Amino acid sequence: MNSVLKLPSPTWFVGCGNMGGAMLEGWRGAGVDVTGGVAIRPSGRDVEGVRTVKSPVDAGPPPKLAILGFKPQDLDEVAPGLARRLSAKTVIISLLAGVEAATLRGRFPGAGMIVRAVPNLPVSIRRGVVALYSEDASEEGKDQLSPLFAVLGFALWVPSEDRLAAIGSIAGAGPAYVARFIDALAKAGADRGLDETNARTIALETVLGTSWMAAATNESMADVARRVASPKGTTEAGLAVLDSDGVLDGLIGVAIEAAARRGTEMAAEARGEKVD
Ligand SMILES: NC(=O)c1ccc[n+]([C@@H]2O[C@H](COP(=O)([O-])OP(=O)(O)OC[C@H]3O[C@@H](n4cnc5c(N)ncnc54)[C@H](OP(=O)(O)O)[C@@H]3O)[C@@H](O)[C@H]2O)c1
Repeated sequence: MNSVLKLPSPTWFVGCGNMGGAMLEGWRGAGVDVTGGVAIRPSGRDVEGVRTVKSPVDAGPPPKLAILGFKPQDLDEVAPGLARRLSAKTVIISLLAGVEAATLRGRFPGAGMIVRAVPNLPVSIRRGVVALYSEDASEEGKDQLSPLFAVLGFALWVPSEDRLAAIGSIAGAGPAYVARFIDALAKAGADRGLDETNARTIALETVLGTSWMAAATNESMADVARRVASPKGTTEAGLAVLDSDGVLDGLIGVAIEAAARRGTEMAAEARGEKVD
């Protein structure tokens, strides 16, 4: 239980769906005092641990911290009304994938420091990755925010938006890719006669156990693979397929490239540029 950490009061979660909710869940799980939190979501659906309202107009005094957790596509709709409710002391944490700091400053000219955060969903169980970037945060400002993110998993400040995008493409999107891999492993198990529930559990535990073991031993992935695959054995035969012509690396590379292209488009859209 971490009784010293507290969300600034008030902290607005402007949009509190999958990601805003995951961060809040992580903070609650870490024992962070979230009583100063206000979730703002048009549906008005309750969010555990905080007051929920439908619009910034109903949220009360200007926030000390505003966490932007709506979709980048909703920026045009949300920004004007929200900007009017912020003060020069409001720190903005934007989760909006691909929306650059300069674009955010243009939308919220009167706010205090602006930080872009790229989290991933496992922040909900405090095993997330959170990359942070700011053009105007002082070292002191960063030091004040860092502990809040450190309790959510592996948090790091990066020196450029390119670096932020790179981490987003691996860690932000990564849980979706890992989920697909686990599914593929489970399907292969079911195809070989396992019942589907067992196949899913076995695939999940295999990925979890491998990650956990590698994290605990700090072993390289090449060494992990080597320890499983005996020469001329069954695993080696399987690895030969994945490694042949770099098929797996190539596939992941193409997928990440496609996501990066979409990120560039979304950044352009948020700047108000027309994208074909
Ligand atoms: N999901 C991820 O893994 C992930 C990873 C990295 C970054 N992000 C970023 O996190 C942000 C949120 O993504 P998400 O996956 O959490 O989306 P989501 O589950 O769809 O949540 C979006 C939230 O925005 C709210 N919303 C919609 N219109 C709004 C408005 N006009 N004013 C205020 N709130 C509004 C929704 O309200 P209701 O709840 O009432 O529908 C909902 O709470 C995105 O910008 C995304 O780029 C997500």
